[in-house]
Amino acid sequence: MEEFYASRLDLDKPNPSRIYDCALGGYHNFAADRAALEQAMQVNPHTVAICRANRDFLRRVVEFLVAQGIDQFLDIGSGIPTVANVHEVAHRTNPEARVVYVDIDPVAITHSQEILKDIPQVTAILGDAHQPAYILSHPKVQALLDFNRPIALLMVTVLHYILHTPQAEDAVRTFCAPLVSGSFLVISHGTNEQALPDVVARLEKLSDSTSNPLRNRSRAEITRFFDGLELLDPGLVFIPQWRPDPRLSPNATPYLFEREPERSQVLAGVARIP
Ligand SMILES: C[S@@+](CC[C@H](N)C(=O)[O-])C[C@H]1O[C@@H](n2cnc3c(N)ncnc32)[C@H](O)[C@@H]1O
Repeated sequence: MEEFYASRLDLDKPNPSRIYDCALGGYHNFAADRAALEQAMQVNPHTVAICRANRDFLRRVVEFLVAQGIDQFLDIGSGIPTVANVHEVAHRTNPEARVVYVDIDPVAITHSQEILKDIPQVTAILGDAHQPAYILSHPKVQALLDFNRPIALLMVTVLHYILHTPQAEDAVRTFCAPLVSGSFLVISHGTNEQALPDVVARLEKLSDSTSNPLRNRSRAEITRFFDGLELLDPGLVFIPQWRPDPRLSPNATPYLFEREPERSQVLAGVARIP
């Protein structure tokens, strides 16, 4: 399986994890990724701000979950370890928190493994969100996470890479199935709500030239991922509106989306598994 993913490594083709790394100011990206980000900025000049706002949502949500007593995280589509990784945020409050990072990009996982080699309570594995059963049964996942206790499943800007909506719904259901009551599901997802149709179409077309094309979804489609779960306040909202806090962080975008949060074009919600 890991050889299969490694064979997908093509540094001349832009890749979402490395484009995102570039937008966050990281160094693990190549010329093709920087060119793709430049093109995306031409279509939507807020692209970098959107990525940073999404990363800041991730920080806030991990802080919230740790405050709820969560000390286990399964982070699907974790990306390249740049600023404020999940384990760094969690360990500020609970150094014992366990985190499994999963990504389809071998570059992201190689860098993650290098960074994590001396941190036994955190690991990173190659995996495809289309194949939840493979990920859930992976020996490293089984060894590190205790499925008899609550776990936070993070699907932060990853479900839009599962293009077929029933398959995305099925993936969420399969990932949630073994989680005990008191676990949490976190989703942020690109949306076409209140976006200019032309901009959405051009950005999606641009994503077709990357290793992982994406499709935005409507609020109704994203809401359905939470079916049967207890969606917490403030519900499904644009990322800057999810429990904002006034503290500045390297990824915070305090002014840009203050008056027009819909410009972030990403909806987010957190639900409790009953
Ligand atoms: C925009 S980044 C998000 C990183 C991180 N979750 C965050 O929000 O800061 C999306 C990540 O999803 C990964 N990805 C895309 N398709 C995937 C799939 N089918 N399975 C697992 N990861 C995937 C990409 O490689 C990339 O690292």
